[in-house]
Amino acid sequence: MIEFHNIVKEFHHKGKKMTALHNVSLKIDKGDIYGVIGYSGAGKSTLLRMVNALETPTTGKVIVGGKELGTISNQELSQVKKNISMIFQHFNLLESKTVFDNVALPLVLNKVDKATIHKRVKELLEFVGLADKENSYPSQLSGGQKQRIGIARALVTNPEILLCDEATSALDPKTTVSILKLLKRINQEFNITILIVTHEMEVIREICNKVAVMEKGNVIEAGDVLAVFGNPQRETTKEFVKTVIHDEIPSSVVQELQAEKRNRRVYQLKFFGKTASEPLLTKLTKEFDVDMNIVFANVTELQGTTLGIFTVAFFGEDSVLDHLYHYVTERNISIKEVIV
Ligand SMILES: Nc1ncnc2c1ncn2[C@@H]1O[C@H](COP(=O)(O)OP(=O)(O)OP(=O)(O)O)[C@@H](O)[C@H]1O
Ligand SMILES: [Mg+2]
Repeated sequence: MIEFHNIVKEFHHKGKKMTALHNVSLKIDKGDIYGVIGYSGAGKSTLLRMVNALETPTTGKVIVGGKELGTISNQELSQVKKNISMIFQHFNLLESKTVFDNVALPLVLNKVDKATIHKRVKELLEFVGLADKENSYPSQLSGGQKQRIGIARALVTNPEILLCDEATSALDPKTTVSILKLLKRINQEFNITILIVTHEMEVIREICNKVAVMEKGNVIEAGDVLAVFGNPQRETTKEFVKTVIHDEIPSSVVQELQAEKRNRRVYQLKFFGKTASEPLLTKLTKEFDVDMNIVFANVTELQGTTLGIFTVAFFGEDSVLDHLYHYVTERNISIKEVIV
């Protein structure tokens, strides 16, 4: 649906060159909710804005719906752009126009007839739950309501692709969740492909099936959310994951462990799927005749499955604990020693 091939983007400012994107390649399939996460300045917005040709790459290809943007005629390009809508952090509503007129605007610009506009705007205000606000002005709405209007305006043209640039960053956590749920519904009910850039892991965890992590103009990790979250490789990815999946042993437990006289080793185990953890832990204590103490556990729901992190202190001889470690790795379960 959307492909970025070896995208380089350079900006020239006051005679100085800065490279915002180094060599970015990504593929977003139809139906994806694809999240791009990174700190400020990573190049997320620059990348997003290439999809609707608000930015053009210095080198590299952007392909949308099979069309390479740099090579098609203006007419074809405007056809591609008609299929793409965008929502923004600060909503970008026209303050002097009513809610109805804001939502109607893209259709008015496309010279759609009045009766069709009326019907379509009503439908969408209903869909976003703000049918009663059609005569209000943006200044009379909360942030969450403004974003719902932004979403209604984005959908009014029946797009196939929705671009979201920090769409929830100006909202409180509860409102964020309600907007994310709305985006998920849009994806499922209208089969709209969503590309969302954010610095909030919450967004990725709640709705994305795919994620790319960007750092200084590069994509450093990308793939299924479960795979990237479950086994982050790079420091930046680990930092982001930590903001939603905690794996630190509480300090009081650390103190207890340090006071413990028996020989022990602390291992962190990761499991995917609800029921995987219990049988393994029981089996380990039986098979190796060791005592264990779960010092930290966290189960996070991701894309309909669960990621369980268990940090366990095992008490026993070093040779037995070595065996235990190998036994687990042989079963393709993630295990690593935690130094306490
Ligand atoms: N028009 C421009 N002219 C010059 N430099 C630019 C321009 N647009 C972006 N940049 C630079 O490119 C880099 C990437 O910017 P971009 O806005 O894509 O980052 P971002 O990841 O979206 O950051 P944020 O989270 O703050 O929105 C930044 O260093 C920025 O200053
Ligand atoms: Mg940005």
